[in-house]
Amino acid sequence: MALPKKVRIVEVGPRDGLQNEPQPVSTAVKIELIRQLAGAGLRYIEAGSLVNPRWVPQMADTVQVFQGIERQPDTVYAALTPNLAGLERALAAGVSEVAIFAAASETFSQKNINCSIAESLERFAPVMDAARAANLRVRGYISCIAGCPYEGAVPVTRVTQVADKLSQMGCYEISLGDTTGVGTAASISRVIEAVSEVVPISQLAVHCHDTYGQALVNIFVALQLGVAVVDSSVAGLGGCPYARGASGNVATEDLVYMLDGLGIEHGVDLDRIIAAGSYISDQLGRKTSSKVARALAKR
Ligand code: HMG
Ligand code: MG
Repeated sequence: MALPKKVRIVEVGPRDGLQNEPQPVSTAVKIELIRQLAGAGLRYIEAGSLVNPRWVPQMADTVQVFQGIERQPDTVYAALTPNLAGLERALAAGVSEVAIFAAASETFSQKNINCSIAESLERFAPVMDAARAANLRVRGYISCIAGCPYEGAVPVTRVTQVADKLSQMGCYEISLGDTTGVGTAASISRVIEAVSEVVPISQLAVHCHDTYGQALVNIFVALQLGVAVVDSSVAGLGGCPYARGASGNVATEDLVYMLDGLGIEHGVDLDRIIAAGSYISDQLGRKTSSKVARALAKR
């Protein structure tokens, strides 16, 4: 079985996880969560997003979060930037890296960022230029790679076209987002195989929401196809405010457990990531969505 020897985990809990939380989470709690995530060994943490605070109120304090985090060496603290205004705020916040986010579905693009796919790509051009001028790497997301909450099925060619564009614009990595978690081992394989014809597999990541309970198996098939970067969210927090009913990403704890079982290196300490998941779950007043954390807590 051909699997990567090493996987880079992109922790999206403080952003994708918390952005969907209706109850306000204080800046201090976000900073403490990020500290614990870095302490668990995560070297890439998406710490917030610089979007319109009227659209996503939970992310309104991202600049303050960045100002408060104690940076660990060799750790990337990234933020989402949908436009030039976001990039300017990101520079002021001192982010280590940014991400732009497009969609493979027109309706989702309109609902999420208030413009068509083509318009979003036009908006990203000056973001790429300004990021390049500031020596910041840019990651690219594509939402709805396996289906859209508004349009249903999404043709694979839409995904490959957007991936090709983002890559040509200079994104060093494209994260394939199964926003509503509808993808299966079969459909996710088809998308990865098609996209890898236009973007090298070494530049692809998977971002699987676990709404239908398919995230781990979808990640496993991605690993078999050679993908070695996986997004996950501590305690399985989250969802997208513009994808009603979508649950969180695969829980980082569950991903770490699977990678340990496969003997794949990842650098994250299972006990410490479980502790971070327990911290944020307590703060939110709810049970963790990580099955591994729940199982180990019963021992
Ligand atoms: P818009 O309303 O079209 O923007 O929103 P605009 O340029 O017309 O500006 C309107 C107002 O927003 C102005 O303020 C701007 O200053 C302000 P006003 O004059 O009315 O007071 N504004 C901003 N403020 C702060 N930061 C900014 C910014 N830009 C404009 N960057 C926009 C366009 C993209 C800004 C809006 O639609 C937005 O903020 N959307 C956020 C969507 C979002 O965060 N979604 C969740 C993240 S994506 C996701 O979760 C999917 C992912 O996880 C992958 C997956 O799972 O598939 C990545
Ligand atoms: Mg997401």
